[in-house]
Amino acid sequence: MVDGGWSLLGRHRERARPRSLSQRLPCHLLLQGVTSATQSNRLIAGTSMTRVLLATAELDPFVKIGGLGETVAGLAACLSQLGVDVHIAVPDYPISLAANQHWSVQLPAWASSQASVRSGRVPGLGTVHAVGVHNIERPHPYYDPATGESWFDNDRRFFAFGIAVAKVARQLNVDVLHINDWHTATAVADFPNERTIFTIHNLAHQGAADIGWLPAFGDKAPYFEHLGSCNPMAAAIRLSAKVSTVSPRYAIEACSPTFGCGLQDELAARGSDFFGVRNGIDPKRWNPESDVLLPANFSARDLAGKQVCNKELRRATGLGDAPGPIIGMVTRFADQKGIDLVADLVGYLEGIPASLVMHGTGEVELVSRIWHEGRARRSHMSYLPGFDEQYAHLVVAGSDLLLIPSKFEPCGLTQMQAMTCGTIPVVTGVGGLADTVIDTDADPTRGTGFVSGQASVTSVLDSLHRAVRGWRNRWRREAVQRRGMLTDWTWAGPGRRYRELYREVLDDL
Ligand code: GLC
Repeated sequence: MVDGGWSLLGRHRERARPRSLSQRLPCHLLLQGVTSATQSNRLIAGTSMTRVLLATAELDPFVKIGGLGETVAGLAACLSQLGVDVHIAVPDYPISLAANQHWSVQLPAWASSQASVRSGRVPGLGTVHAVGVHNIERPHPYYDPATGESWFDNDRRFFAFGIAVAKVARQLNVDVLHINDWHTATAVADFPNERTIFTIHNLAHQGAADIGWLPAFGDKAPYFEHLGSCNPMAAAIRLSAKVSTVSPRYAIEACSPTFGCGLQDELAARGSDFFGVRNGIDPKRWNPESDVLLPANFSARDLAGKQVCNKELRRATGLGDAPGPIIGMVTRFADQKGIDLVADLVGYLEGIPASLVMHGTGEVELVSRIWHEGRARRSHMSYLPGFDEQYAHLVVAGSDLLLIPSKFEPCGLTQMQAMTCGTIPVVTGVGGLADTVIDTDADPTRGTGFVSGQASVTSVLDSLHRAVRGWRNRWRREAVQRRGMLTDWTWAGPGRRYRELYREVLDDL
């Protein structure tokens, strides 16, 4: 598809950066044909497309720990469809990319002088560049799976990755560099900041490191200093042309001491250059009408297949005919997600009555706590540790309610996946959860779920009681389900907003 409006809007092109194709590409890539598809698109279109490098520590389907990988992949797919020339840089942990190009970029001595890059087209996504910096290869991106401890050298690994991202962006001659979270944030030390966009997926992870790192960032060093440490996220917030986060509500919350994790003043200082764009979900992966991972398909018009999924979930978990609805949870096991609240409230579920099905993994202590609860309450609780894509789909689509009791939530994806599948979300009213779920008791004609006022055991239990009452009334339940299913949760709107943002940044040059 072609970005038809671009030639009218791309004032900077004539003025600042008119380039032929051969000028835009490193010659070894041009010769070896990495961008041949792009080339022919451009020739057909008779115009040139915006070239963007998205940089990320996770990219679905190669590496996915939390929502980051799914989010960047979903955005990339949508941007590609919208006619943006999408490139994605991801650390080579390694990832199973079928690369057809191998090249390298020079790095400073502290980052071991060189990064190797493997590049390959991934249909529907864009060109993926697997960037190998010293010691980035590990069995898990962030921590040792055996102990749960963060890798001791995460600062050096990802600081080097960020610098390599800047070099790759220069080599590819991209129009805009779009970096995501702290793992890519050091790129601001080495790429024109007026063409850099920074997206915050989670303020709780900032990559703050020893102050001794500052000299590594040359004349940008002062921007990295924050509260006595070297903080790459602070630098990216201060230097990037625009700073976005993944929901409008989180953008407001992030400017407060309660949610800002110490960076609230930096964020507030960016004024209207800091804002929220809600994430989307990939309609190819999340669509109950066509999902091949489900035992039966269904739609808002005909919910019969959802019953089949529910039966299969009850069978698979051994919950059988347990009374009341099934409450599902597919989550990372992190403090943010309110897992401790769940451990404290499971004892009350039998009395509601309702059963709980949990799936996911993460912090060892939380996993162990829930595992023990699950073993002690087999009649109304089931926990499957780890992550299995097919089982995750069964839990999301087969449950009656989906619980997300987060203490903070920049966006959250599972509530949108749940609504798409007619599963009613029960959430805390924070961040993206508040932006996407309308409380049915507060607004009976527009409600899509249940929202608790606080991330506390009593408040979440109260919402669960309300949700189960609502669920028992078939007429009311189906109205809520249909409203959620018929809402557009795809990337279409957010993707267009990011494309606009790229244009705004380029127009401002
Ligand atoms: C992080 C946030 C989550 C968000 C995801 C993708 O995992 O915690 O709320 O949905 O990033 O942006």
